Amino acid sequence: MKITHAMNPLKGEIKVPGDKSISHRSIMFGAISTGDTCVRGFLKSADCISTMNCFRSMGIGIEEESDGEGDYILVHGKGLHGLKEPSSPLDCGNSGTTTRLISGILSGQEFETRLMGDSSLSKRPMKRIIEPLSSLGASIRSEKGDGLLPLIISKGDLHGGRIETKVASAQVKSAILLSGLYADKETCVFEPALSRNHTELMLAAFGADITSGTAEDPEASVRPGNELRGMNVTVPGDISSAAYFMGAALIVPGSEVLLKNVGINPTRDGILRVFKDMGGDITLENERYETGERCADILVRYSPDLKGTVIGGDIIPALIDEIPLIAVVAAVAEGDTVIKDAAELKVKESDRISLTVNNLFAMGVDAEAKDDGMVIHGGKELHHASIETAKDHRIAMSFSVAALVNSDVQPVEIKDSACVGISYPEFYKDLDSLMR
Ligand code: S3P
Repeated sequence: MKITHAMNPLKGEIKVPGDKSISHRSIMFGAISTGDTCVRGFLKSADCISTMNCFRSMGIGIEEESDGEGDYILVHGKGLHGLKEPSSPLDCGNSGTTTRLISGILSGQEFETRLMGDSSLSKRPMKRIIEPLSSLGASIRSEKGDGLLPLIISKGDLHGGRIETKVASAQVKSAILLSGLYADKETCVFEPALSRNHTELMLAAFGADITSGTAEDPEASVRPGNELRGMNVTVPGDISSAAYFMGAALIVPGSEVLLKNVGINPTRDGILRVFKDMGGDITLENERYETGERCADILVRYSPDLKGTVIGGDIIPALIDEIPLIAVVAAVAEGDTVIKDAAELKVKESDRISLTVNNLFAMGVDAEAKDDGMVIHGGKELHHASIETAKDHRIAMSFSVAALVNSDVQPVEIKDSACVGISYPEFYKDLDSLMR
């Protein structure tokens, strides 16, 4: 994909696709509930389709329907113990969320499963779930003993307990909590900072006896015994997808966009806090709750006086997926931006520290990679370049935003741009529609 600098400001309104984290969970929790779950606003992206296919392989009927209110997904749940042994390994594709959350569920099943994924996923660390789940009595191992996929999971003896995780990761926390549904006693997870709590909120709505942690006391707990019951889920728009249009509107002169119905759960809203702190003109309208999740419409206007900032500590889990985009906006802002406490970036779909810094550098930005983040010296012109994405959707979308303010006539080339389909198949169409 070749992208030239924006000829027009971004104008108008857009409804970004459904939240990826919530979409995955709606299929998973629907599958292990009794009765039907109807999911509206489901994100039909490659990652969420991986989750659907895994559950279909375990005997769960999942249909795509539509009625007067639009499209929806119908999950025919079979209860906590209704999954069937799949006839072949479960393929999680590129999706860390599928792999790690499903591992918690599979730890409580009577059958053995083998989990695999694509080349990126096969390099991502799984010890972070193998160790805590094993200490809670699960039978889970990496086939080659290297802490990577493939994983083999079979019937263990889940006895509950308390885990203190080393990283603030909702995927790890969720795997532990899901295994807790199948344990004899209570399971608690204490994390170093509160990560996204969609699992806690949604499992509670399905009927689980579960408590979410708070920013002050980031410990979640679940008690076994309750049956989960199918329900109607409305998935809000994904703030991680909306973020690209926020960033683009902030830096492309004359822009004004209204992003409709975006999830602004406080465990996900770090991007709003940071952009506002940088001087971004961002207003929330029509705040409300949808299936227990806070939502709003977000109005973003071009902001010519953006300033660098320092980002670190407890806010990191609330914006972890947005850091490549923040780095792009920081390159346009005046002054330095320091991002720290974000070593997790190295084990995402790509090493997002080195890819972000190298691509910024290729566009003429002075940026330095650090062990736990990066420093961006902002305020210079961006130039055209060929962007390496390593097929990482978030790198592709972040640098597509950077391309809009490239000061050269030549376009920016985004390599393997089709990878946006992992989380946002219509990204380029939606971006285009705002620039007409
Ligand atoms: C996710 C959690 C985050 C995030 C990922 C989705 C989830 O990962 O980066 O895109 O749905 O739970 P970690 O929990 O590993 O930080």
